[in-house]
Amino acid sequence: MAIRLGDVAPDFTAETTEGVIDFHQWKAGSWAVFFSHPADYTPVCTTELGRTSALQAEFDRRGVKCIAISVDPLESHLGWAGDIGDVGGTDLNFPIIADPDKKVSELYDMIHPGEGDTSTVRSVFIIDPSNKVRLTLTYPKSVGRNFDEILRVIDALQLTDAAPVSTPVDWRPGDRVIVSPMMSTEDAKARFGEVEEVKSYLRWTPAPKV
Ligand code: BEZ
Repeated sequence: MAIRLGDVAPDFTAETTEGVIDFHQWKAGSWAVFFSHPADYTPVCTTELGRTSALQAEFDRRGVKCIAISVDPLESHLGWAGDIGDVGGTDLNFPIIADPDKKVSELYDMIHPGEGDTSTVRSVFIIDPSNKVRLTLTYPKSVGRNFDEILRVIDALQLTDAAPVSTPVDWRPGDRVIVSPMMSTEDAKARFGEVEEVKSYLRWTPAPKV
């Protein structure tokens, strides 16, 4: 069954490059980026996992743990790890799940038969500290993901959790935000100070400090 926003991310136990993990226990109150790649020793995937390792400080700063998965066996992941470090410039620093029996990939609906074979597509699940799925992305095998966008949506999720605001089109951290329609303009001014009303339903305020 499809996993929808707001669902509890299904728990599982799996073998990884960092030993056997229980997913919920492993993330233990952190945010998580759980993402699949089609296959080890392939070019796009190598760049994606290299970039994820290089961004570790950015993920740490946001309280986010990363974990990858493919249907390749553990020996393949362990052999490939050196290439990820060579290509991305940072040693692999997060676990990769080995899922040759496809148990976890199927649980998360990461195998899309129309996409060629029985490997995983490029799925992304952003999961919050209470294990709720907060964002999903699905990319085809031929298109690498943008990890700056993954960081950007984590920033937006964490900001909109912390204050009654939404982020507009093309929002970047530090940009102005939209006051929640649930809040009166009077209350918004009391909370945020500056509020610009463009329409009754579109009110801007500078990025709140959270
Ligand atoms: C790649 O990572 O380059 C790739 C993997 C599977 C299909 C297409 C591209």
